[in-house]
Amino acid sequence: MTSVPLPRPTIRSDAYGHARMPRRIDMPEPARVDRVAYGRFRNVYLYITEACQLRCEHCYMGERLDRALKMELPQIVETLRTWRKLGGSKVTILGGEPTLHPYFCEAIWAAAKLGYEDVITTTNAQVPAARKFRKMEPADFAYVQVSMDGGSATTHDAVRGAGTFDIAIDTTEELAGRGYDTRIICTVNKANEGDALRLLDIADDLGVSLVKFHVFSTIGTGHGNSDIAMNPLEWVEFCDKLSDAAPEYKSRVWFQPTYARRDQVERYAGEGYQGCIGRTLDRISIFPDGRCYVCSYLFDTTMNFAQMTDGQVQLNHGANEFELFTSVLSESSCGGCKAGACGGGCPAEELVLGTSSCNAYEDIVPVCRLWKSSAKPEDGR
Ligand SMILES: C[S@@+](CC[C@H](N)C(=O)[O-])C[C@H]1O[C@@H](n2cnc3c(N)ncnc32)[C@H](O)[C@@H]1O
Ligand code: SF4
Ligand code: SF4
Repeated sequence: MTSVPLPRPTIRSDAYGHARMPRRIDMPEPARVDRVAYGRFRNVYLYITEACQLRCEHCYMGERLDRALKMELPQIVETLRTWRKLGGSKVTILGGEPTLHPYFCEAIWAAAKLGYEDVITTTNAQVPAARKFRKMEPADFAYVQVSMDGGSATTHDAVRGAGTFDIAIDTTEELAGRGYDTRIICTVNKANEGDALRLLDIADDLGVSLVKFHVFSTIGTGHGNSDIAMNPLEWVEFCDKLSDAAPEYKSRVWFQPTYARRDQVERYAGEGYQGCIGRTLDRISIFPDGRCYVCSYLFDTTMNFAQMTDGQVQLNHGANEFELFTSVLSESSCGGCKAGACGGGCPAEELVLGTSSCNAYEDIVPVCRLWKSSAKPEDGR
């Protein structure tokens, strides 16, 4: 009897998609912007403190700012160690204002010691932050991200408080001058969209390597300020203006599309976009109370993915975000897909906004708000 050979299994590489991961500025040119396949818990966001000296009008931290819980240093180190073992390679230390934590420097150094390849922080760049960075070295960070919410003192200070723009500019200049890879992150709203692009001039003047724009999400304190939130059509128009302006600048320019016009969906699909990033478990954000979220848009909810208790990660067996992410695989968030490449849309929109953006706007398709694109084709497309 002749045996029929079994078919050989076809081994394919994981074609899910890619996240763009910024590399250190001192790396050789081709490696500077890397397209990295999604990996489980690759991006760790550690909220070492909920305390902050500012009360920005849009802040998603909301009531956490007044509660002001902070992690003790052993809790920081153990949490970093746990998520490193679970796949973490890039960690962002934030808060609240992370530089106000008495052990901010130690947290940064601990992350590098534990093997995280990229250690990042996001800061309001006020006087206490500048003082902390003077105790540190550019090599301590892959990059430092400074929040600037407008291209002038008028718009930035309206969100962040009087005098904060000038101080953030001074700190940014000092950091870039000392050789830190310094980046600007801007949350765009109706009030600052008119001058937000001035940040590109500021970035080139100060030696900032990258400017990232994202839309104001009406969560946390932002709930009370939904009048300054941009609607999807306004945001898509802003992104068009950004893409037109960006090639004129030295600094790299990224944005989070969040929404696409129908005619843009194929372009994002061509860049590797395949729907809700939450489903890939690409990231995890850990708060001092132990709650761990995959999706930042759900920070106001109790749908956190897991809970850390005494260093142990326990899955949330109640209503949880992972089940929300996968729900749109069987039924799209709008209930009738108009653009297959949306991957079912963003299931959190209905929860946060009451309806999906594709239901509310004929020509709009939601794009996961955690997903980034480059406004300059040469920067990674
Ligand atoms: C919560 S802050 C923490 C770090 C630091 N205090 C700072 O302001 O950079 C992290 C980033 O989230 C942004 N952010 C806060 N609330 C937001 C919201 N509702 N929508 C979009 N971005 C928001 C901030 O502007 C900042 O760039
Ligand atoms: S955005 Fe940052 S600086 Fe502003 S209140 Fe929130 S944590 Fe503080
Ligand atoms: S923003 Fe929406 S699409 Fe993105 S991870 Fe969250 S639920 Fe998923």
